[in-house]
Amino acid sequence: MESTEFNRVLRRIATVLSVVIVTLSLVAASTGILLSIYYEPAAGRAYQSLKLITDQVQYGWLFRKAHNIAGNGVIAIALVQIVVLFLGRQFRKSWLSAWMSAILFTLTVIGLSWTAMILSWDQEGFWRFSIELGTIEAIPLIGSQLREILTGGGAISTLTIQRLYTIHSYILSIAAIIISVVHLLSVLWQEKQMKAQLSNSEGDNLASSNIQGAGASLAES
Ligand code: HEM
Repeated sequence: MESTEFNRVLRRIATVLSVVIVTLSLVAASTGILLSIYYEPAAGRAYQSLKLITDQVQYGWLFRKAHNIAGNGVIAIALVQIVVLFLGRQFRKSWLSAWMSAILFTLTVIGLSWTAMILSWDQEGFWRFSIELGTIEAIPLIGSQLREILTGGGAISTLTIQRLYTIHSYILSIAAIIISVVHLLSVLWQEKQMKAQLSNSEGDNLASSNIQGAGASLAES
C-alpha cells in the first residue's frame, strides 16, 4: 500500500516536471528567437551585439536573462526528472518511452548549453571552447575531422560561431521542443495506464468481496 502511494506521488511529480520541461523549452526557444533579431553570429560582432541587447534594446536584458535561466534551468529539471523516473520504474512501454525521451532530452539540452559556449564570444567562452576542442581532437580516428567540421577550418573564427549557432538555434532547439512534447505525452500515457490498472484491480477486489459476501449469506441460510 505504502509503495503504491509512493509510486503515485512519483508519477505526479514526473507529470508536473514534464509540464515544466515543455514550458521552459518554449520560453528558451521564444526568447532565443527574440535574441536572434539583434544577435550577430560573427567573431567580434557577437559580443558587441549581445552588449547592445543588454544595454540598449528595450527589455533586451530581460530576454537574455530569461533565455539563460530557462536554458540552464531546463537542464537541472531534466536531470531531476531522470532520477524521479528511475525511482518509479515500471518497465512497461509507456514508462520506457518516458525514460528514453528524458535521457534524449537531457543530452539535447546539454548540447544546447555546449554549443552556446562560444556564442557570446567573451574571454571565458573562448578559452573554455579551446580546451574542449583539444579534448575533441584527442578522440582517436575521428578527432581531427570533428574539430575541422566544428570550427570550419581548424581555428576558432566567425565560421565556428556560425556553425555552432546553426546547430544551437535550428537543429538542437527544434529537437528539444519535439522531444519535450513526446516526453510529456509519454508521461501522460503512463499516468492513464496506471489509472486504468488501478480501477481494474479495484473492480476485481469489489467483485471478489461480493462473491465472498454471497457465499457467507448462503452458508448462514
Ligand atoms: C529549447 C531551446 C533552447 C535552449 C534550451 C537554449 C539554451 C541556451 C543556453 C543554456 C544558453 C547559454 C546561456 C548562458 O549560460 O550564458 C544559450 C545561449 C544562447 N542562445 Fe539558446 N537555447 C535555445 C534556443 C535558442 C534559439 C531558438 C536561439 C536563436 C534563434 C538561441 C540563441 C542563443 C544565443 C544568441 C545565446 C547566447 C546568449 C548569451 O550568451 O547571453 N537559443 N541558449
